[in-house]
Amino acid sequence: METVGGSRTSSSTRTNKDKDDDDVVFAVNGKRYEVSCEASTTLLEFLRCHTPFKSVKLSCGEGGCGACVVLLSNYDPVLKTVKSYTVSSCLTLVHSVDYCSITTTEGLGNSRDGFHPIHERFSGFHASQCGFCTPGMCVSLFSALVNAEEEKQRPDPPPGFSKLTVLEAEKAISGNLCRCTGYRPIADACKSFAADVDLEDLGINSFWRKGESNGDKLSKLPFYNPKDDVCTYPKFLKSELESAMYLNPHKKSWYNPLTLEELQNFTDLKLSTTPTKLVAGNTGIGYYKELNQYENYINLRNVSELSSISRDETGIVIGAAVTISKAISALKEKVEDGLCSDKELIFTKIAEHMEKIASEPVRNLASVGGNVVMAQRNYFPSDIVTVLLAVSSTVDLLIDRKRQILSLEDFLSKPPLDHRGVLLSIKIPFSSSFRSTFTTESSKLVFETYRAAPRPLGNALPYLNAAFLAFISQSRIGVVINKIQLVFGAFGAKHARRAREAEEYLAGKIISLNVLYEAINIIRATVISEDGTSDAMYRTSLVVSYLFEYLYPLFNGVVLVSNGLSTQNYANNLADGDNLSKDATKPALLLSGKQLVKTSREYYPVGQPIVKSGASIQASGEAIYVDDIPSPSNCLHGAFIYSTKPLARVQNVRFKDRSLPDGVTAVITYKDIPSGGENIGSKTIFGTEPLFADDITSCAGQCLALVAADTQKLADRAASLSIVDYDTDNLGLPILTLEEAVEKSSFFEVPPFLYPAQIGDFSKGMAEADHKINSEIKLGSQYYFYMETQTALAIPDEDNCMVVYSSIQCPEYVHSVIARCLGIPEHNVRVITRRVGGGFGGKAIKAMPVATACALAAHKLRRPVRMYLNRKTDMIMAGGRHPMKITYDVGFKSDGKITALHLYILINAGMCADISPVLPSNMLGVLKKYDWGALSFDIKVCKTNHSNKSAMRAPGEVQPSFIAEAVMEHVASMLSMEVDSVRYRNLHTFDSLNLFYKHSAGELVEYTLPSIWDKLQISSSISQRTKKIQQFNQKNLWKKRGISRVPIVHEVTVRPTPGKVSILSDGSIVVEVGGIELGQGLWTKVKQMTAYVLGSIQCDGIENFLDKVRIVQADSLSLIQGGFTAGSTTSEASCEAVRICCNILIERLAPLKEKLQGQMISLTWDTLVLQAHMQAVNLSASSYFVPDFNSMQYLNYGAAVSEVEINTLTGETTILRSDIIYDCGQSLNPAVDLGQIEGAFVQGIGFFMSEEYLTNSDGLVVADSTWTYKIPTIDTIPKQFNVEVLNSEHHKNRVLSSKASGEPPLLLAVSVHCATRAAIKEARKQLRSWNNLSDECNVSFQVDVPATMPVVKRLCGLNYVESYLKHLLSHEGSKQS
Ligand SMILES: Cc1cc2nc3c(=O)[nH]c(=O)nc-3n(C[C@H](O)[C@H](O)[C@H](O)COP(=O)(O)OP(=O)(O)OC[C@H]3O[C@@H](n4cnc5c(N)ncnc54)[C@H](O)[C@@H]3O)c2cc1C
Ligand code: FES
Ligand code: FES
Repeated sequence: METVGGSRTSSSTRTNKDKDDDDVVFAVNGKRYEVSCEASTTLLEFLRCHTPFKSVKLSCGEGGCGACVVLLSNYDPVLKTVKSYTVSSCLTLVHSVDYCSITTTEGLGNSRDGFHPIHERFSGFHASQCGFCTPGMCVSLFSALVNAEEEKQRPDPPPGFSKLTVLEAEKAISGNLCRCTGYRPIADACKSFAADVDLEDLGINSFWRKGESNGDKLSKLPFYNPKDDVCTYPKFLKSELESAMYLNPHKKSWYNPLTLEELQNFTDLKLSTTPTKLVAGNTGIGYYKELNQYENYINLRNVSELSSISRDETGIVIGAAVTISKAISALKEKVEDGLCSDKELIFTKIAEHMEKIASEPVRNLASVGGNVVMAQRNYFPSDIVTVLLAVSSTVDLLIDRKRQILSLEDFLSKPPLDHRGVLLSIKIPFSSSFRSTFTTESSKLVFETYRAAPRPLGNALPYLNAAFLAFISQSRIGVVINKIQLVFGAFGAKHARRAREAEEYLAGKIISLNVLYEAINIIRATVISEDGTSDAMYRTSLVVSYLFEYLYPLFNGVVLVSNGLSTQNYANNLADGDNLSKDATKPALLLSGKQLVKTSREYYPVGQPIVKSGASIQASGEAIYVDDIPSPSNCLHGAFIYSTKPLARVQNVRFKDRSLPDGVTAVITYKDIPSGGENIGSKTIFGTEPLFADDITSCAGQCLALVAADTQKLADRAASLSIVDYDTDNLGLPILTLEEAVEKSSFFEVPPFLYPAQIGDFSKGMAEADHKINSEIKLGSQYYFYMETQTALAIPDEDNCMVVYSSIQCPEYVHSVIARCLGIPEHNVRVITRRVGGGFGGKAIKAMPVATACALAAHKLRRPVRMYLNRKTDMIMAGGRHPMKITYDVGFKSDGKITALHLYILINAGMCADISPVLPSNMLGVLKKYDWGALSFDIKVCKTNHSNKSAMRAPGEVQPSFIAEAVMEHVASMLSMEVDSVRYRNLHTFDSLNLFYKHSAGELVEYTLPSIWDKLQISSSISQRTKKIQQFNQKNLWKKRGISRVPIVHEVTVRPTPGKVSILSDGSIVVEVGGIELGQGLWTKVKQMTAYVLGSIQCDGIENFLDKVRIVQADSLSLIQGGFTAGSTTSEASCEAVRICCNILIERLAPLKEKLQGQMISLTWDTLVLQAHMQAVNLSASSYFVPDFNSMQYLNYGAAVSEVEINTLTGETTILRSDIIYDCGQSLNPAVDLGQIEGAFVQGIGFFMSEEYLTNSDGLVVADSTWTYKIPTIDTIPKQFNVEVLNSEHHKNRVLSSKASGEPPLLLAVSVHCATRAAIKEARKQLRSWNNLSDECNVSFQVDVPATMPVVKRLCGLNYVESYLKHLLSHEGSKQS
């Protein structure tokens, strides 16, 4: 029995007999919990606050990331069966899990009792980096394994495998986000369980070596036996459930009606008197983050009429509380009832469409009725309503005790459903019921649904959805439309709607080009988004595209066979070039890839692909992040109140009735900074940033105050309900654009030593040029999207000291900021960081105010204070990557050789300098990747009233990578040359490299870019594929492909860093380093280095030396001068620091070793150490590695080829293949470096293709959730992903010849963008040919970053379809005349 603590929960150790009727009983990992809590308590909240199971992570709190996924199991006491499925615990209410059993990743196994094969395989396939997503991933996979075993009709899998298929294994994690790995290794870990996997296809792992037989491989894979798997529903709960006499219909604030009568009674009783909510799956809160507090919840799930699915001869009735997952299964069920086979087509299509709603853990909770009500009442952009409307569904309502059956269309047109109204069920009629009214017997049904969304497998709201149903028949001269229903939704109108004008026009018509053209004109004019809808024109173009996609095959190429027109021949009877068929045959997944790594034993175990330190405990959920540290007693929780204005006087921060809300202890502002302290929230070498705005706020998103409350929920709620009174009198206008900053000369100073030198003589270069062009580029921001948001815990200690646990990349810096803020000496502060759940630069400067605010509150209130930012606040305050505006002038010869480039760059730095003054230097470090002849530039770091932009992985480096390629593309297009050859023409010779990179070019043998370029030519088969792509593009009108190869040269700087190695009396070794483990594998490399150097002492018993080494958390008092973990070089610098320590220790041990070896036959390490301890040898050594000034900077090289396919109708881009070769020198750990390369590349894909970090006109971030911000998912990464970690071996100035891998590969993702541009170019060529315009030479165009679907479609032509039809019509006309 578990005791549940916490202010609003009570505990019990009673058995079921004396269970309180108000309590909820359930099991977590086999442990019994009996809980009485607020009805609004989510399962996530409960698990994290009141159980030891911290693996269930909070990352988004809105169902969009999968970090909180748990397995929920129900027991059916009649059938004696257990059903298990995943749910997002952040949306699940505790009250809804009565008598359920919950399994988290800790329930699968652990470090003491043994890991589950899932944990072991995640670890062995290098599928965990920061580890914050890993527990959720493991549970998603486990659920897929459990459910695969339920498939009784499937044959038993071979030993060691599951019944799961490879496709299902990949899909299992399609609802889980990972920001570190790039998904490929996670997919491999999942696929390793699939019965149909070819082990040969799985990537690099620690189990087997390349070339081993499948038998050997299998024997080394941690064995999986589905039969002895985890118990998901404990016996005691079964007996309790069986002995429970009845389900209590009424708990304190949770009502469980079983019948409609009870439901009506409860609603009558409660809704009129107290705030009460009807609830089914509760997933609606993921979208509408309700601030309303409900006193009562009425659970709809147990009312049998609402939870059942029934069929009769007229249709299928789905109870409103039925989950989307259950509805999908029911719709897919084949029923041999002899009824019209059309229904199967309709139901299957509806089910397939529903499978793209949210993610599986959400669909398993979300009800069909909840979705419809959200759409009707709150105008939610529903998919369900659209598809149901197209098939003339009806709804059954209970309003004021009266039943009403309405068509769904009528229901939508009624005023929003009153909170007393209950949707009982939805009926989808069989098509036969309306067929007879409108159609002849011989007419055939054609039903299709469409959805344009940033992620093919769902987990993203659509820009538009549509569903079309028609009955058609064959006439002598073509296909006649007997009846048609066209529905469009989610396009920016309140509700999905029938396009009646177009329907009326089309009914009875024979499909011809003219008819199609006219129908499209009608639909374009009548299906219109409301004012203010984003991408409105794009959405309209989708309306046209989908109608065309639906009707055009009926005009072109459809052959009605004697037994009718099936969907298959609908899709397939199309000529290649006209092929519009949705990719029904091509699964959105099934990834493949090759990884080529060369290991070296020269510095063994350095150079080996050993598994990441801590990967198994990350998978099992035992790894502890800051928010997993149990709260000390009396702990308060903080939440920030931020400004929503860019420049305003803050008059007051208050609450509605001016008193503090319940549970709130204090509101801390700059006025609470103690005397002697400073209003400082962060610092860099360029200055400080205030912790709180004082009287004037300088940007939207600036921190104004911290609310301290009893729980995080109360703090968050209070912060969001706070009211800030602003006044802007006499303050002038904020600077919100770069142009305004220039006008007002609002710039941050860049210290001369950081401002890069111009290269060559620009005027001379321009004079040599045959051609001169110029253009302008704009680049937006990017958000870190670390899975763990900013977090800290501050605990006051004796004698005015403060201990702060912070998830930060630079404890040293925050240490001194806290001391300055509190006005105490630095030795009174201790900052501890064990691991960070993803940083990407965002946990450097931007983590400091969080830790400092906690420390200030703790100092003032004399109580521990912790804070875990909710995703919205984090996104609003984070700042992110620097937006820029670039103007360039470039001169070049007719053969493509560039002779001069001038850049005028405006960087939006926001309100504080942060690290922005380093950007000019960072930019040039990458921009110089080509030989520009002469390079001149004017870079301004603009001070604006935006949140300050900060370091984000490859800060100021990914942008120039893009700028350089944009210039190349521009030059190539002006010369009508292949851009690949223009790039090649401008690659550096070693001489020009030396000119451009005076201090970092290194030796000739180190300049590997030319050989990488050539190697990639062969390994990627770029020439052959380019030809194939040309053929593809000639043949296909609606899909175009592009391919692109790009190089990178990336300059990095090694910085000083400390290390400390101590040997304990039992021979185990503990290591401290300045670098922080962010998931990048720093600890692993350090561990390998320690084992390598200390192992060189050559004692016996050092075979498993790695196991003796433990790297411990960073402690800013124990190891000072830790610096920043940033810039890709901290791992190697930390390794070097450790190497120095180890050498010192070896030197100290050597005399004793020699002496002892003279006395003993065999000297073991343990004996040597014990003797050393006894003989007072100092066994702890520390160091401070300071790199040599002349070699502290060096260059990294790589190149990538990417091929994409764009859909010219929707703007969707699919990355078909990416090939990367990246030079890691002699990699310290090829598996870790490979993970960095893949992960960085995929993060770069996010920047270039999907992540829009948008703000409103005040600069307040509006892309503030997983709903609006789309990082790559498993279905948007390259379908084929080949990476070679090049081992270029010789690098005498590097740490054991190794090179960096953390940031440079991110830049290679520009290849995807360039390939997209190439594909767009083909589409534009096509369009111009239809419009009778000459070929596209000399017509260049810019492709925005990110190249989202609307961007791609806009460039392909929003009138692509119309142009095609006009072209056909004009041909037809000319044929006739
Ligand atoms: C991450 C995520 C992604 C999503 N993506 C999509 C998507 O791509 N496409 C899409 O169409 N939908 C999407 N949804 C919406 C999802 O389908 C709905 O949240 C869900 O169906 C609502 O069902 P529920 O049972 O959870 O409703 P609840 O949250 O329990 O209720 C929602 C609202 O409806 C009321 N209500 C519920 N049932 C009834 C009833 N029978 N009678 C009267 N009132 C009722 C409740 O009082 C509440 O106001 C997504 C949701 C999430 C969380
Ligand atoms: S935290 Fe629940 S899905 Fe993101
Ligand atoms: S390992 Fe997946 S988010 Fe870090």
